[in-house]
Amino acid sequence: MKTYLVTGAAGFIGANYLKYMLTKYNDVRIIVLDALTYAGNLGTIAPDIDDERCFFVKGDICDRDLADRLFGEYKFDYVVNFAAESHVDRSIENPQLFLMTNILGTQNLLDAARRAWVTGRDEQGYPVWRKGVRFHQVSTDEVYGSLGADGFFTEETPLCPHSPYSASKTSADMFVMAYCDTYKMPVTITRCSNNYGPYHFPEKLIPLIIKNILEGKKLPVYGDGSNVRDWLYVEDHCKAIDLVVRNGAEGEVYNVGGHNEKTNLEIVKLTIATVHRLMTEKPEYREVLKRKDKDADGNISIGWINDELITFVKDRLGHDQRYAIDPTKITEALGWYPETRFETGIVKTIEWYLTHQDWVQEVISGDYQGYYERMYGKR
Ligand code: NAD
Ligand code: DAU
Repeated sequence: MKTYLVTGAAGFIGANYLKYMLTKYNDVRIIVLDALTYAGNLGTIAPDIDDERCFFVKGDICDRDLADRLFGEYKFDYVVNFAAESHVDRSIENPQLFLMTNILGTQNLLDAARRAWVTGRDEQGYPVWRKGVRFHQVSTDEVYGSLGADGFFTEETPLCPHSPYSASKTSADMFVMAYCDTYKMPVTITRCSNNYGPYHFPEKLIPLIIKNILEGKKLPVYGDGSNVRDWLYVEDHCKAIDLVVRNGAEGEVYNVGGHNEKTNLEIVKLTIATVHRLMTEKPEYREVLKRKDKDADGNISIGWINDELITFVKDRLGHDQRYAIDPTKITEALGWYPETRFETGIVKTIEWYLTHQDWVQEVISGDYQGYYERMYGKR
């Protein structure tokens, strides 16, 4: 039985990872540590918490006493650190919060792990680590900066972050590697491209576009919509993390990506077309629409779900042009590959949102309206 500390599992990717792990393995015990910020929703993982295999602790990864207490009580084998402030636009609004959570929080966990896992010193003074432990940092392709029209990020690409978010994630990665180099701490890092799928908070592009269509609102595309992202279905990311935590080599970084580059405009148009198609095939989905114009036959009309909903708005400051991952290393070393084709994943995702509107309403019941006004009112 392995015991995991999984931070940030009330958020998008962490929650998907938690569900994946509990479904795949019977012999794991997972302690979730999450501060339940605006991006964390306990309802998402409430069905998974059973106080036998899965425990929930509300708390901040920056809290030293709490981290020490949890390491002491649960004797973790693995730490998987998802907890972060994750939205680039918010980092432009309030950079300092990103430093606190993403850098200081990560470093606090590294230190708590060091206090708990070191069993002695070798002749050269290096710490000796408890056998089988591992600190895994969930990182991002944004640490590499931005690409031009060609090429891919490999693990050797120099780190060159641009946004406050990516600068904070880069810094965290460097601390993780510093603990590996200085203390010989057993660590791994994954750097993944853009995820999409269930439980994605509707401040990010794909869930925001779906939500706005359902509300009959305009679809904001930053700049001219030519920026490229490399989209990966979230479950494929979870599988990659599981493989790396269990079988990845200590001190190694693994890039994770789907070879699925799309411009933002392509993503938005594809989402519009897919919502329209699904509502044509299954008219019952139209009940979810806020705009309930009727057509000549008295059915809820969907003629207005078309590209005219798109509105080009002021660009993101310092907007990275293109991300694209070369996942050769993780494929060759661990046999990982992106299993979900985008055409399948996007339909699964949209259908999930169409059938989980209660979840959407729950997560936007806090400050979401204020955030939307601040971000988009001025664009
Ligand atoms: P998210 O914003 O959906 O969730 C973040 C979670 O962390 C939330 O549950 C939040 O409550 C929690 N949290 C925030 N601050 C905390 C703190 N101080 N202490 C404890 N918990 C805290 O993020 P996500 O999209 O699921 O991303 C998870 C991780 O994956 C992040 O580290 C992110 O940088 C990385 N990542 C995300 C993507 C992506 O496309 N979303 C891609 C690559 C890497
Ligand atoms: O690449 C991995 C990163 O992907 C993760 O590290 C981040 O945590 C995650 O948020 C994501 O960052 P992006 O900035 O790429 O994701 P976002 O969904 O915010 O934006 C995707 C693209 O769409 C980006 O080029 C900006 C654009 N965009 C976004 C929003 C919210 C729009 O054009 N309109 C919008 O309203």
